Amino acid sequence: MKSQASPPGPLAGRVAVVTGAARGIGAAVATRLARNGATVVLADRDSDPLEAVASGLRGEGLDAQAQTVDITHEADIAALSARLQRQARLDILVNNAAILDGTPIDALTRARFEEVQAVNQNGALWMTLGLLGLLRRSEHGRVVNIASIIGVRGVADSLAYATAKGGVVNMTRSLAVDLAPDGILVNCICPGFVDTRMALLPDGSGHEHETDWFRDIYIKYGRIPLRRPAQPDEIAAATSFFCGDDCRYVTGQILLVDGGVSATF
Ligand code: NAI
Repeated sequence: MKSQASPPGPLAGRVAVVTGAARGIGAAVATRLARNGATVVLADRDSDPLEAVASGLRGEGLDAQAQTVDITHEADIAALSARLQRQARLDILVNNAAILDGTPIDALTRARFEEVQAVNQNGALWMTLGLLGLLRRSEHGRVVNIASIIGVRGVADSLAYATAKGGVVNMTRSLAVDLAPDGILVNCICPGFVDTRMALLPDGSGHEHETDWFRDIYIKYGRIPLRRPAQPDEIAAATSFFCGDDCRYVTGQILLVDGGVSATF
């Protein structure tokens, strides 16, 4: 694997994989980790934007590589693992890739439900198990799963997404217990509303927070106490805490980064 020297920083010498890094929160996490000195392998199924993010980071003098990976494809995970084996190191895995689903229960098909589980829940699981051998060799092993506030709250028309994200939340706790003997810390971030493409309306007409619905329910009536959606880097900042040495005795935890949504009703 072609690699330039990591810049100085708290994560210098560490190697990180971030899934769903072609845009949104994943790109922000990859950027933060790279700016903190890590060598970052950006993984996504969407190759062109992925390479654009990685080459932008390399343009900053950071150590960033792109690898096309569909997290539902075993062969892609094996190819990523083989590439990392050549680098002989993996310290941090951020399972961020996911798809949004807002299918009402009466319209939900078995195929769609299983597709959402395959990406949003099973993808994180098989990525973690597929890279576990490498993570076990690290003295700083960290796994961070990006779930959602919809993994800890029920929301209308979100059965498939909520089931998968709820699975990621409890997968985090179970993995944390299983991997504690290896010194691997496993934690989870649940974002609230984040200003990314995932927050586009189904018809692509605009961001949720620009609609009357979002303004009235979540901002005017105080459902988001901080009265605004998060920016991707605000999720990346919390993620980067779980990835670094300031996090040494925290594992199996679920951090809601939601502007206070879960603190009220
Ligand atoms: P996004 O839709 O902007 O980006 C998701 C990325 O994941 C895309 O680059 C996409 O190509 C990639 N991806 C999707 N399926 C994949 C697969 N099978 N294999 C590899 N890559 C795949 O999403 P955003 O907003 O950045 O979300 C990131 C994470 O944060 C997701 O887990 C999402 O569920 C979670 N989240 C987002 C919220 C929001 O308001 N945007 C709120 C709560 C959670």
